[in-house]
Parts: sequence; structure tokens; C-alpha cells
Amino acid sequence: MNPVELYKSALEDTQALVRQLSQRPRKTATLSPEVAALLESLSTAAVDSTEAQADAPSVASAPPPNEAPSLAELAEAVRACKQCSLCETRTQTVFGVGNENADLVFVGEAPGADEDAQGEPFVGKAGQLLTDIIVKGMKVRREEVYICNVLKCRPPNNRNPKPEEMAQCEPFLVQQLARIRPKVICALGGVAAKCLLQTEEGVGRLRGRWHNYQGIPLRVTYHPAYLLRTPSDKGKVWEDIQEVMKVLSGEVIPEV
Ligand code: URA
Repeated sequence: MNPVELYKSALEDTQALVRQLSQRPRKTATLSPEVAALLESLSTAAVDSTEAQADAPSVASAPPPNEAPSLAELAEAVRACKQCSLCETRTQTVFGVGNENADLVFVGEAPGADEDAQGEPFVGKAGQLLTDIIVKGMKVRREEVYICNVLKCRPPNNRNPKPEEMAQCEPFLVQQLARIRPKVICALGGVAAKCLLQTEEGVGRLRGRWHNYQGIPLRVTYHPAYLLRTPSDKGKVWEDIQEVMKVLSGEVIPEV
């Protein structure tokens, strides 16, 4: 890693730490002398590196989270997207719905027939189950959370997303999450987990522990459509949701 990358990575880790600590009652952080010295050396390295680059041609750098495009701008870009063949079969794009400042974001797989028709994620049978989990289980309004999918267009006949479709659509999700910066992300099913965690592991192996998505605690659970086929696993999803709720309430601060 060059000093700038090292600095950005340390900064992200520090931001995640501060975010966690800010949820604690004392709202203070004590650094060990070693960590303080490391941060000091990183800031020196970054200053040196910035000075060295002062005369270099300027290059575009990723905007900080609060400068990420607005959700309205992203939704417009999605509406205009023709990067893959799904644009030829979609009725409309399905960007996302809910509170733009949500503490919790649910990420599903892709719109189905109902979502394609209505332009809103999770409005069919699986969506009703997700709504029940949110409203009846978590006791929050659906509008309080944010809900979106990895793919913003419906794959014909609800087939699984192709790797190239996921790769092309992923930047929209990345920017959506960078804009919202929720306290917790809940990945619904294997496709969302694979995209967000860049893993080939299945839901059964990924659930039951916390993961780290860009410094944001992420929990993997079963997709509601799977639960409709396998209702005996509803208890496991409820366990996962309860862990999510503990983090949202500040009762638990996950080590991510
Ligand atoms: N399944 C999903 O993954 N997303 C939806 O929006 C609907 C069903």
C-alpha cells in the first residue's frame, strides 16, 4: 500500500471505531501510545505524499461519503442505464425505497414481477413477509428503513442474476450505501451477501456473525422468498433480526 492508501484505510478504520464509540455512554476514546504514534506517522506520511504529488497531474479521487451523489441523482442514472440487456425486458427500474437517512438498510437480490410492475422493491409475496418482519417483528414502520436490491432491473422469469449483470449494477448499490451510511446493513440471501462481501460462501455459513462492509456492520440472513419455501427457518431469521436490533439500539457494539 502506498502512504495515501494506507492513510485512507486507517482513516476508514478510525471512523468506524469512532462511530462505534459514539454509541457508548461515555462517547470518548482512549488511544494507546502505540496507536497514537501510528496515527501520527500516518498523518506525516500523508502530508509528505501530498506535497510530493502537488505538481503531479490531478486525478479524480472517490468523493467522501457526504459528497456521494444524491439518491435522486442515482435513481435518475439508474433509470437511464442501458449497460446490460435487462434494460430491454424491464418495465421500469426499481431503485430503492424508504428513509434516505435510515439506520438500517435491507439489500435483496433483484426485482420480481410485482416490483417490475410497481417500481418498488419487495412488494410481492416475499415483500409482504419482509414487511411483516419489519413492522410486526421489529416494530418499526417500513418507511423508517431503506430497502433496495443488488440488481435494479428484473431478470426475465426471475432467473438468477448473471455475474456480469451484478458487476455492472454493483456501483449503483455501492453509491446508494455510501450516501445513506446506515448503522447496519442486512443482506437478504446469497446474492446480496456475495455482492456486498465478495464471497462465495453460502448464507448458512455467513449468518450468525457480524461482517464488515466499508466499516458498517453487516448481518446476513435468509431471503424472504426462501422463507416462503422453508418456513421452518423463520426462527433463524428472527434470531438474525434480533441481533440487528441490538446493534441499532446500542445494546451491542459489534467488533467489525
Ligand atoms: N426479491 C428480491 O430480492 N427483491 C425484491 O425486490 C423482490 C423480491
